Amino acid sequence: MTADLVGRLGQIVGPAGLISDPGGMAGHVTDWRNAYSGTAAAVVRPGDTGEVAAVVALCRDAGVAVVPQGGNTGLCGGAVPDSSGRQVVLSLTRMRRIRDLDVANQTITVEAGAVLQSVQEAAAAAGRLFPLSLGAEGSCTIGGNLATNAGGTAVLRYGTMRDLTLGLEVVLPDGRIWNGLRGLRKDNTGYDLKQLFIGAEGTLGVITAAVLKLFPAVRSRATAWAALPGPQGAVDLIGVLREIAGDRLTGFEIMSRQSVEFVLRHSSGARDPFGDQHPWYALVELSDTLPHAGLDEVIEAALGEAFDRGAVRDAVIASGSAQATALWALREGISEAQNHEGPSLKHDVAVPVSRIPAFVERTDRALREAVPGIRIVTYGHVGDGNLHYNLSKPVGSDDEEFLVRAEALARLVYDSTHAFHGSISAEHGLGHSKREIIADYADSHGLDLMRGLKQLFDPRGLMNPGKVLPGL
Ligand code: FAD
Ligand code: MLT
Ligand code: ZN
Repeated sequence: MTADLVGRLGQIVGPAGLISDPGGMAGHVTDWRNAYSGTAAAVVRPGDTGEVAAVVALCRDAGVAVVPQGGNTGLCGGAVPDSSGRQVVLSLTRMRRIRDLDVANQTITVEAGAVLQSVQEAAAAAGRLFPLSLGAEGSCTIGGNLATNAGGTAVLRYGTMRDLTLGLEVVLPDGRIWNGLRGLRKDNTGYDLKQLFIGAEGTLGVITAAVLKLFPAVRSRATAWAALPGPQGAVDLIGVLREIAGDRLTGFEIMSRQSVEFVLRHSSGARDPFGDQHPWYALVELSDTLPHAGLDEVIEAALGEAFDRGAVRDAVIASGSAQATALWALREGISEAQNHEGPSLKHDVAVPVSRIPAFVERTDRALREAVPGIRIVTYGHVGDGNLHYNLSKPVGSDDEEFLVRAEALARLVYDSTHAFHGSISAEHGLGHSKREIIADYADSHGLDLMRGLKQLFDPRGLMNPGKVLPGL
Protein backbone atom coordinates (compact mmCIF):
# COMPACT_ATOMS: atom_id res chain seq x y z
CA MET A 1 0.00 0.00 0.00
CA THR A 2 2.73 2.44 1.06
CA ALA A 3 4.94 1.67 -1.96
CA ASP A 4 1.97 2.22 -4.28
CA LEU A 5 1.09 5.55 -2.61
CA VAL A 6 4.70 6.73 -2.71
CA GLY A 7 4.87 5.88 -6.42
CA ARG A 8 1.71 7.87 -7.13
CA LEU A 9 2.97 10.82 -5.06
CA GLY A 10 6.12 10.72 -7.19
CA GLN A 11 3.99 10.96 -10.33
CA ILE A 12 2.44 14.18 -8.99
CA VAL A 13 5.56 15.97 -7.78
CA GLY A 14 8.24 14.43 -10.03
CA PRO A 15 11.65 13.15 -8.93
CA ALA A 16 12.75 16.58 -7.66
CA GLY A 17 9.81 16.66 -5.29
CA LEU A 18 9.91 13.23 -3.68
CA ILE A 19 12.15 12.00 -0.87
CA SER A 20 11.59 8.44 0.33
CA ASP A 21 14.98 7.21 1.55
CA PRO A 22 15.54 7.41 5.33
CA GLY A 23 18.73 9.46 4.97
CA GLY A 24 17.04 12.11 2.83
CA MET A 25 14.02 12.24 5.13
CA ALA A 26 16.07 12.59 8.35
CA GLY A 27 16.00 16.41 8.49
CA HIS A 28 12.22 16.39 7.95
CA VAL A 29 11.22 13.87 10.63
CA THR A 30 13.14 15.40 13.55
CA ASP A 31 13.00 19.00 14.70
CA TRP A 32 16.12 21.23 14.78
CA ARG A 33 16.61 20.74 18.55
CA ASN A 34 16.21 16.97 18.36
CA ALA A 35 13.40 17.33 20.86
CA TYR A 36 10.74 15.62 18.67
CA SER A 37 11.24 12.76 16.26
CA GLY A 38 9.10 10.47 14.08
CA THR A 39 9.19 8.53 10.83
CA ALA A 40 7.37 9.10 7.53
CA ALA A 41 6.20 7.12 4.49
CA ALA A 42 7.64 9.90 2.32
CA VAL A 43 8.45 13.59 2.20
CA VAL A 44 6.83 15.38 -0.75
CA ARG A 45 7.91 18.81 -1.95
CA PRO A 46 5.30 20.09 -4.43
CA GLY A 47 6.30 22.81 -6.89
CA ASP A 48 2.96 24.65 -7.06
CA THR A 49 -0.50 24.91 -5.52
CA GLY A 50 -2.01 22.45 -8.00
CA GLU A 51 0.49 19.80 -6.94
CA VAL A 52 -0.25 20.47 -3.26
CA ALA A 53 -3.97 19.97 -3.97
CA ALA A 54 -3.31 16.72 -5.87
CA VAL A 55 -1.08 15.36 -3.05
CA VAL A 56 -3.65 16.21 -0.37
CA ALA A 57 -6.52 14.69 -2.39
CA LEU A 58 -4.54 11.49 -3.05
CA CYS A 59 -3.64 11.11 0.64
CA ARG A 60 -7.24 11.79 1.66
CA ASP A 61 -8.48 9.04 -0.69
CA ALA A 62 -5.83 6.67 0.67
CA GLY A 63 -6.69 7.51 4.30
CA VAL A 64 -3.13 8.75 4.91
CA ALA A 65 -2.38 11.71 7.16
CA VAL A 66 -0.48 14.76 5.91
CA VAL A 67 1.92 16.83 8.05
CA PRO A 68 2.54 20.32 6.57
CA GLN A 69 6.07 21.57 7.10
CA GLY A 70 7.98 24.78 6.39
CA GLY A 71 11.45 25.49 7.79
CA ASN A 72 10.94 23.00 10.67
CA THR A 73 12.06 25.62 13.21
CA GLY A 74 8.90 25.35 15.33
CA LEU A 75 9.32 24.79 19.05
CA CYS A 76 6.35 22.52 19.87
CA GLY A 77 6.81 19.53 17.54
CA GLY A 78 3.96 20.63 15.24
CA ALA A 79 5.78 19.91 11.96
CA VAL A 80 7.13 16.47 12.92
CA PRO A 81 5.28 13.26 11.93
CA ASP A 82 4.34 10.58 14.46
CA SER A 83 6.25 7.30 14.76
CA SER A 84 3.82 5.14 12.70
CA GLY A 85 5.80 5.57 9.49
CA ARG A 86 2.49 6.04 7.64
CA GLN A 87 2.26 9.82 7.55
CA VAL A 88 3.35 11.96 4.60
CA VAL A 89 5.35 15.12 5.31
CA LEU A 90 4.30 17.88 2.90
CA SER A 91 7.19 20.31 2.71
CA LEU A 92 6.47 23.71 1.11
CA THR A 93 10.14 24.56 0.64
CA ARG A 94 10.07 24.45 -3.19
CA MET A 95 7.24 26.99 -3.27
CA ARG A 96 9.18 30.17 -2.55
CA ARG A 97 8.20 32.59 -5.31
CA ILE A 98 7.33 36.23 -4.73
CA ARG A 99 4.20 36.37 -6.90
CA ASP A 100 3.64 40.12 -6.72
CA LEU A 101 4.83 43.27 -5.00
CA ASP A 102 2.40 46.18 -5.21
CA VAL A 103 4.07 49.29 -3.83
CA ALA A 104 0.99 51.51 -4.19
CA ASN A 105 -1.19 48.96 -2.37
CA GLN A 106 1.60 48.35 0.21
CA THR A 107 1.36 44.56 -0.25
CA ILE A 108 3.52 41.61 -1.18
CA THR A 109 2.11 38.28 -2.38
CA VAL A 110 4.35 35.33 -1.58
CA GLU A 111 4.26 31.56 -1.65
CA ALA A 112 4.19 29.72 1.66
CA GLY A 113 7.68 28.23 1.36
CA ALA A 114 9.39 31.62 0.99
CA VAL A 115 11.93 32.07 3.78
CA LEU A 116 11.03 35.03 6.00
CA GLN A 117 14.37 36.75 5.42
CA SER A 118 13.91 36.60 1.63
CA VAL A 119 10.55 38.36 2.01
CA GLN A 120 12.14 41.05 4.21
CA GLU A 121 14.82 41.48 1.52
CA ALA A 122 12.32 41.70 -1.34
CA ALA A 123 10.41 44.38 0.57
CA ALA A 124 13.62 46.31 1.30
CA ALA A 125 14.64 46.19 -2.37
CA ALA A 126 11.37 47.99 -3.14
CA GLY A 127 12.01 50.59 -0.42
CA ARG A 128 9.47 49.02 1.92
CA LEU A 129 9.48 47.10 5.21
CA PHE A 130 8.06 43.68 6.02
CA PRO A 131 8.37 43.92 9.79
CA LEU A 132 8.07 40.36 11.14
CA SER A 133 11.45 39.63 12.74
CA LEU A 134 12.61 36.63 14.78
CA GLY A 135 15.74 34.63 15.56
CA ALA A 136 14.89 31.89 13.05
CA GLU A 137 14.22 34.31 10.16
CA GLY A 138 17.00 32.83 8.00
CA SER A 139 15.22 29.45 7.86
CA CYS A 140 11.57 29.73 8.92
CA THR A 141 8.96 30.16 6.17
CA ILE A 142 5.97 32.42 5.67
CA GLY A 143 3.68 29.35 5.80
CA GLY A 144 5.11 28.33 9.19
CA ASN A 145 4.92 31.94 10.41
CA LEU A 146 1.25 32.03 9.44
CA ALA A 147 0.41 28.60 10.80
CA THR A 148 1.92 29.50 14.20
CA ASN A 149 0.85 33.18 14.11
CA ALA A 150 4.48 34.04 14.81
CA GLY A 151 5.37 37.04 16.92
CA GLY A 152 9.01 38.01 17.43
CA THR A 153 10.68 41.28 18.30
CA ALA A 154 8.62 43.93 16.47
CA VAL A 155 5.10 42.98 17.62
CA LEU A 156 4.91 46.00 19.88
CA ARG A 157 4.84 48.31 16.84
CA TYR A 158 3.50 46.12 13.98
CA GLY A 159 1.57 43.22 15.57
CA THR A 160 1.80 39.45 15.03
CA MET A 161 1.57 37.60 11.73
CA ARG A 162 -2.23 37.77 12.03
CA ASP A 163 -2.06 41.56 11.98
CA LEU A 164 0.25 41.51 8.96
CA THR A 165 -1.95 39.33 6.72
CA LEU A 166 -4.61 40.46 4.23
CA GLY A 167 -5.28 37.29 2.23
CA LEU A 168 -4.53 33.58 1.98
CA GLU A 169 -4.66 30.73 -0.50
CA VAL A 170 -5.24 27.38 1.21
CA VAL A 171 -5.54 23.76 0.12
CA LEU A 172 -8.36 22.29 2.20
CA PRO A 173 -8.13 18.79 3.71
CA ASP A 174 -10.21 17.33 0.83
CA GLY A 175 -7.93 18.83 -1.84
CA ARG A 176 -10.07 21.83 -2.84
CA ILE A 177 -8.27 25.16 -3.19
CA TRP A 178 -9.78 28.06 -1.24
CA ASN A 179 -8.83 31.31 -2.94
CA GLY A 180 -8.86 34.07 -0.35
CA LEU A 181 -5.83 35.77 -1.86
CA ARG A 182 -7.03 39.37 -1.71
CA GLY A 183 -5.05 42.46 -0.84
CA LEU A 184 -7.90 44.41 0.75
CA ARG A 185 -7.81 46.36 3.97
CA LYS A 186 -11.59 46.43 4.05
CA ASP A 187 -13.73 43.41 3.23
CA ASN A 188 -16.81 42.78 5.38
CA THR A 189 -18.33 40.04 3.23
CA GLY A 190 -19.13 37.55 5.96
CA TYR A 191 -16.84 35.46 8.16
CA ASP A 192 -13.13 36.26 7.99
CA LEU A 193 -12.07 32.74 7.04
CA LYS A 194 -8.34 33.45 6.76
CA GLN A 195 -8.18 33.99 10.51
CA LEU A 196 -9.10 30.34 11.07
CA PHE A 197 -6.02 29.09 9.22
CA ILE A 198 -3.66 31.57 10.90
CA GLY A 199 -2.50 29.95 14.13
CA ALA A 200 -4.14 26.58 13.30
CA GLU A 201 -0.71 24.92 13.00
CA GLY A 202 -1.65 23.09 9.82
CA THR A 203 -4.65 21.27 11.32
CA LEU A 204 -7.28 22.86 9.04
CA GLY A 205 -5.46 22.99 5.68
CA VAL A 206 -2.21 23.73 3.89
CA ILE A 207 -1.45 27.42 3.35
CA THR A 208 0.09 27.83 -0.10
CA ALA A 209 0.32 31.63 -0.53
CA ALA A 210 -0.42 34.89 1.27
CA VAL A 211 -0.89 38.60 0.68
CA LEU A 212 1.05 40.45 3.38
CA LYS A 213 1.15 44.11 4.44
CA LEU A 214 4.15 46.29 3.72
CA PHE A 215 5.16 49.43 5.61
CA PRO A 216 7.36 52.44 4.85
CA ALA A 217 11.07 51.65 5.16
CA VAL A 218 12.75 52.55 8.43
CA ARG A 219 15.44 55.21 7.91
CA SER A 220 16.64 55.84 11.45
CA ARG A 221 16.97 53.71 14.54
CA ALA A 222 18.19 54.05 18.10
CA THR A 223 19.05 51.01 20.20
CA ALA A 224 19.82 50.96 23.92
CA TRP A 225 20.76 48.36 26.51
CA ALA A 226 19.60 49.20 30.05
CA ALA A 227 20.39 47.61 33.40
CA LEU A 228 17.29 47.21 35.58
CA PRO A 229 16.82 46.54 39.28
CA GLY A 230 14.00 44.08 38.49
CA PRO A 231 10.99 43.42 36.24
CA GLN A 232 9.13 46.40 37.72
CA GLY A 233 11.87 48.55 36.18
CA ALA A 234 10.91 47.14 32.77
CA VAL A 235 7.24 48.01 33.22
CA ASP A 236 8.13 51.53 34.37
CA LEU A 237 10.60 52.01 31.52
CA ILE A 238 8.00 50.96 28.93
CA GLY A 239 5.61 53.50 30.44
CA VAL A 240 8.18 56.30 30.13
CA LEU A 241 9.11 55.27 26.57
CA ARG A 242 5.47 55.27 25.53
CA GLU A 243 4.98 58.75 26.94
CA ILE A 244 8.09 60.18 25.28
CA ALA A 245 8.56 58.14 22.07
CA GLY A 246 4.96 57.20 21.21
CA ASP A 247 4.72 54.62 18.43
CA ARG A 248 8.39 55.04 17.55
CA LEU A 249 8.89 52.41 20.27
CA THR A 250 9.43 49.35 18.06
CA GLY A 251 11.02 46.71 20.31
CA PHE A 252 11.27 46.12 24.04
CA GLU A 253 12.92 42.91 25.20
CA ILE A 254 13.82 41.82 28.72
CA MET A 255 16.56 39.39 29.83
CA SER A 256 17.44 38.03 33.26
CA ARG A 257 21.13 38.00 34.22
CA GLN A 258 21.11 34.18 33.90
CA SER A 259 20.02 34.44 30.26
CA VAL A 260 22.77 36.94 29.40
CA GLU A 261 25.37 34.89 31.26
CA PHE A 262 24.67 31.89 29.00
CA VAL A 263 25.26 34.02 25.90
CA LEU A 264 28.47 35.53 27.32
CA ARG A 265 29.69 31.98 28.04
CA HIS A 266 28.77 30.31 24.75
CA SER A 267 28.73 32.95 21.97
CA SER A 268 32.13 33.91 20.68
CA GLY A 269 32.60 37.66 20.63
CA ALA A 270 29.74 38.38 23.06
CA ARG A 271 30.67 41.11 25.54
CA ASP A 272 28.89 42.47 28.62
CA PRO A 273 28.09 46.15 27.90
CA PHE A 274 28.59 46.96 31.62
CA GLY A 275 31.47 46.37 34.05
CA ASP A 276 29.07 45.47 36.88
CA GLN A 277 26.49 42.69 36.92
CA HIS A 278 22.80 43.56 37.16
CA PRO A 279 19.82 41.29 37.85
CA TRP A 280 17.84 42.24 34.72
CA TYR A 281 18.38 43.99 31.41
CA ALA A 282 16.19 45.60 28.75
CA LEU A 283 16.89 46.05 25.06
CA VAL A 284 15.02 49.02 23.61
CA GLU A 285 14.63 49.97 19.97
CA LEU A 286 13.07 53.11 18.52
CA SER A 287 12.65 53.57 14.78
CA ASP A 288 11.33 56.21 12.40
CA THR A 289 10.77 56.64 8.69
CA LEU A 290 12.61 60.01 8.71
CA PRO A 291 16.36 59.78 8.05
CA HIS A 292 17.30 62.26 10.81
CA ALA A 293 14.61 61.78 13.42
CA GLY A 294 16.77 62.63 16.44
CA LEU A 295 16.04 59.26 18.04
CA ASP A 296 19.23 59.18 20.10
CA GLU A 297 18.03 62.31 21.91
CA VAL A 298 14.57 60.79 22.40
CA ILE A 299 15.93 57.53 23.84
CA GLU A 300 18.39 59.44 26.02
CA ALA A 301 15.59 61.60 27.42
CA ALA A 302 13.47 58.51 28.19
CA LEU A 303 16.34 56.66 29.86
CA GLY A 304 17.22 59.76 31.90
CA GLU A 305 13.63 60.08 33.10
CA ALA A 306 13.49 56.34 33.94
CA PHE A 307 16.83 56.66 35.81
CA ASP A 308 15.42 59.51 37.91
CA ARG A 309 12.39 57.36 38.75
CA GLY A 310 14.64 54.46 39.85
CA ALA A 311 13.54 52.20 36.99
CA VAL A 312 16.96 52.06 35.32
CA ARG A 313 20.39 51.64 36.95
CA ASP A 314 22.66 52.15 33.95
CA ALA A 315 22.33 52.31 30.16
CA VAL A 316 24.30 52.41 26.91
CA ILE A 317 23.01 53.77 23.63
CA ALA A 318 24.46 52.04 20.56
CA SER A 319 26.81 54.41 18.75
CA GLY A 320 26.23 52.80 15.34
CA SER A 321 24.72 49.83 13.57
CA ALA A 322 27.62 47.48 14.52
CA GLN A 323 27.07 48.14 18.22
CA ALA A 324 23.29 47.80 17.81
CA THR A 325 23.82 44.42 16.11
CA ALA A 326 26.09 43.32 18.99
CA LEU A 327 23.41 44.26 21.53
CA TRP A 328 20.75 42.37 19.57
CA ALA A 329 23.10 39.35 19.40
CA LEU A 330 23.11 39.24 23.21
CA ARG A 331 19.33 38.86 23.04
CA GLU A 332 18.98 36.65 19.96
CA GLY A 333 21.71 34.28 21.15
CA ILE A 334 19.91 33.13 24.31
CA SER A 335 17.90 30.28 22.75
CA GLU A 336 21.02 28.75 21.15
CA ALA A 337 23.28 29.38 24.17
CA GLN A 338 20.87 27.61 26.50
CA ASN A 339 21.22 24.40 24.46
CA HIS A 340 24.84 24.14 25.69
CA GLU A 341 23.68 23.88 29.30
CA GLY A 342 21.74 20.62 29.01
CA PRO A 343 18.05 20.22 28.23
CA SER A 344 16.10 23.48 28.05
CA LEU A 345 12.54 23.24 29.28
CA LYS A 346 10.68 25.89 27.29
CA HIS A 347 7.60 27.72 28.53
CA ASP A 348 6.27 30.51 26.34
CA VAL A 349 3.75 32.41 28.43
CA ALA A 350 1.95 35.76 28.46
CA VAL A 351 0.37 37.75 31.25
CA PRO A 352 -0.80 41.38 31.24
CA VAL A 353 2.29 43.64 31.19
CA SER A 354 1.23 45.28 34.46
CA ARG A 355 1.27 41.89 36.24
CA ILE A 356 4.74 40.80 35.06
CA PRO A 357 6.63 41.76 38.27
CA ALA A 358 4.25 39.89 40.61
CA PHE A 359 4.10 36.94 38.21
CA VAL A 360 7.89 36.60 38.00
CA GLU A 361 8.29 36.86 41.76
CA ARG A 362 5.71 34.18 42.46
CA THR A 363 6.85 31.81 39.69
CA ASP A 364 10.57 32.11 40.50
CA ARG A 365 9.90 31.42 44.18
CA ALA A 366 7.84 28.31 43.42
CA LEU A 367 10.46 26.99 40.96
CA ARG A 368 13.33 27.50 43.41
CA GLU A 369 11.41 25.73 46.15
CA ALA A 370 10.68 22.81 43.79
CA VAL A 371 14.26 22.44 42.48
CA PRO A 372 16.94 24.18 44.54
CA GLY A 373 19.68 25.50 42.24
CA ILE A 374 17.43 25.48 39.13
CA ARG A 375 18.62 28.01 36.55
CA ILE A 376 15.73 30.21 35.45
CA VAL A 377 16.33 31.63 31.97
CA THR A 378 13.62 34.27 31.72
CA TYR A 379 13.63 36.59 28.72
CA GLY A 380 11.44 37.75 25.90
CA HIS A 381 9.06 40.21 24.45
CA VAL A 382 8.01 41.90 27.67
CA GLY A 383 6.44 44.80 25.80
CA ASP A 384 3.83 42.25 24.65
CA GLY A 385 3.59 40.66 28.13
CA ASN A 386 5.29 37.58 26.62
CA LEU A 387 8.04 35.85 28.61
CA HIS A 388 10.07 32.79 27.63
CA TYR A 389 10.22 31.15 31.04
CA ASN A 390 12.87 28.61 30.16
CA LEU A 391 14.58 26.36 32.67
CA SER A 392 17.99 24.68 32.84
CA LYS A 393 19.10 22.02 35.32
CA PRO A 394 21.14 22.91 38.43
CA VAL A 395 24.91 22.94 37.79
CA GLY A 396 26.40 19.45 38.04
CA SER A 397 23.06 17.62 38.13
CA ASP A 398 21.92 14.83 35.85
CA ASP A 399 19.95 15.47 32.60
CA GLU A 400 17.56 12.57 33.17
CA GLU A 401 16.81 13.56 36.76
CA PHE A 402 15.87 17.01 35.47
CA LEU A 403 13.83 15.74 32.52
CA VAL A 404 11.60 13.49 34.67
CA ARG A 405 10.50 16.67 36.43
CA ALA A 406 9.65 18.44 33.16
CA GLU A 407 5.90 17.99 33.40
CA ALA A 408 5.69 18.96 37.07
CA LEU A 409 7.75 22.09 36.37
CA ALA A 410 5.60 22.98 33.35
CA ARG A 411 2.51 22.67 35.51
CA LEU A 412 4.04 24.93 38.08
CA VAL A 413 4.76 27.64 35.48
CA TYR A 414 1.35 27.24 33.82
CA ASP A 415 -0.58 27.23 37.12
CA SER A 416 1.08 30.50 37.99
CA THR A 417 0.33 31.88 34.48
CA HIS A 418 -3.29 30.80 34.79
CA ALA A 419 -3.60 32.47 38.20
CA PHE A 420 -2.57 35.73 36.50
CA HIS A 421 -5.16 35.23 33.70
CA GLY A 422 -2.40 34.54 31.19
CA SER A 423 -1.78 32.28 28.20
CA ILE A 424 0.33 29.09 28.37
CA SER A 425 1.38 29.58 24.75
CA ALA A 426 1.90 33.16 23.72
CA GLU A 427 3.60 32.72 20.34
CA HIS A 428 4.92 29.18 19.72
CA GLY A 429 1.57 27.38 19.49
CA LEU A 430 0.50 24.06 21.02
CA GLY A 431 1.81 21.60 18.43
CA HIS A 432 2.37 18.15 19.84
CA SER A 433 3.94 19.11 23.15
CA LYS A 434 1.15 21.21 24.68
CA ARG A 435 -1.94 19.73 23.09
CA GLU A 436 -2.97 17.63 26.12
CA ILE A 437 -2.07 20.07 28.87
CA ILE A 438 -4.09 22.86 27.24
CA ALA A 439 -7.26 21.02 28.30
CA ASP A 440 -6.47 21.95 31.92
CA TYR A 441 -6.24 25.67 31.20
CA ALA A 442 -8.58 26.43 28.27
CA ASP A 443 -12.28 27.20 28.44
CA SER A 444 -14.09 23.92 27.76
CA HIS A 445 -16.75 25.53 25.54
CA GLY A 446 -14.00 27.11 23.48
CA LEU A 447 -12.34 23.72 23.05
CA ASP A 448 -15.68 22.21 21.98
CA LEU A 449 -16.06 24.92 19.32
CA MET A 450 -12.54 24.19 18.07
CA ARG A 451 -13.28 20.46 17.85
CA GLY A 452 -16.44 21.31 15.89
CA LEU A 453 -14.43 23.40 13.43
CA LYS A 454 -11.89 20.62 13.03
CA GLN A 455 -14.69 18.15 12.31
CA LEU A 456 -16.18 20.54 9.71
CA PHE A 457 -12.92 21.17 7.88
CA ASP A 458 -11.33 17.76 8.29
CA PRO A 459 -13.96 15.09 9.07
CA ARG A 460 -11.51 12.26 8.45
CA GLY A 461 -8.90 13.73 10.79
CA LEU A 462 -6.07 13.47 8.26
CA MET A 463 -4.67 17.02 8.37
CA ASN A 464 -1.81 17.12 10.91
CA PRO A 465 -3.50 14.80 13.42
CA GLY A 466 -2.24 14.65 17.00
CA LYS A 467 -1.51 18.38 17.06
CA VAL A 468 -3.19 21.32 18.83
CA LEU A 469 -6.44 19.69 20.00
CA PRO A 470 -6.50 17.46 23.08
CA GLY A 471 -7.85 13.96 22.54
CA LEU A 472 -7.90 14.13 18.71
P1 FAD B 1 7.54 24.72 10.88
O1 FAD B 1 8.36 24.51 12.10
O2 FAD B 1 7.92 23.93 9.69
O3 FAD B 1 6.00 24.43 11.22
C1 FAD B 1 5.38 25.01 12.34
C2 FAD B 1 3.89 24.63 12.34
O4 FAD B 1 3.26 25.19 11.20
C3 FAD B 1 3.65 23.13 12.23
O5 FAD B 1 2.49 22.81 12.94
C4 FAD B 1 3.40 22.89 10.74
O6 FAD B 1 2.59 21.76 10.49
C5 FAD B 1 2.69 24.18 10.34
N1 FAD B 1 2.95 24.61 8.98
C6 FAD B 1 4.14 24.92 8.41
N2 FAD B 1 3.96 25.35 7.14
C7 FAD B 1 2.62 25.30 6.91
C8 FAD B 1 1.81 25.61 5.78
N3 FAD B 1 2.32 26.09 4.66
N4 FAD B 1 0.46 25.43 5.89
C9 FAD B 1 -0.08 24.98 7.04
N5 FAD B 1 0.64 24.66 8.12
C10 FAD B 1 1.98 24.83 8.06
N6 FAD B 1 8.49 32.05 17.08
C11 FAD B 1 7.90 33.23 17.39
O7 FAD B 1 6.69 33.36 17.24
N7 FAD B 1 8.63 34.29 17.86
C12 FAD B 1 9.96 34.23 18.03
O8 FAD B 1 10.58 35.19 18.48
C13 FAD B 1 10.62 33.02 17.68
N8 FAD B 1 11.95 32.93 17.80
C14 FAD B 1 12.56 31.77 17.43
C15 FAD B 1 13.94 31.71 17.54
C16 FAD B 1 14.61 30.54 17.16
C17 FAD B 1 16.11 30.49 17.25
C18 FAD B 1 13.86 29.42 16.69
C19 FAD B 1 14.54 28.17 16.26
C20 FAD B 1 12.49 29.48 16.61
C21 FAD B 1 11.82 30.65 16.98
N9 FAD B 1 10.44 30.76 16.91
C22 FAD B 1 9.82 31.93 17.22
C23 FAD B 1 9.64 29.59 16.52
C24 FAD B 1 9.54 29.36 14.98
O9 FAD B 1 10.57 29.86 14.27
C25 FAD B 1 8.32 30.03 14.44
O10 FAD B 1 7.24 29.42 15.02
C26 FAD B 1 8.18 29.95 12.92
O11 FAD B 1 7.13 30.77 12.58
C27 FAD B 1 7.98 28.55 12.34
O12 FAD B 1 8.15 28.57 10.92
P2 FAD B 1 8.60 27.27 10.12
O13 FAD B 1 8.51 27.57 8.68
O14 FAD B 1 9.91 26.78 10.60
O15 FAD B 1 7.44 26.25 10.53
C1 MLT C 1 12.81 33.77 21.17
O1 MLT C 1 12.09 34.78 21.27
O2 MLT C 1 14.05 33.84 21.21
C2 MLT C 1 12.15 32.43 20.98
O3 MLT C 1 10.81 32.63 20.66
C3 MLT C 1 12.22 31.69 22.29
C4 MLT C 1 12.86 30.37 22.36
O4 MLT C 1 13.64 29.94 21.49
O5 MLT C 1 12.60 29.70 23.39
ZN1 ZN D 1 9.99 34.64 21.26
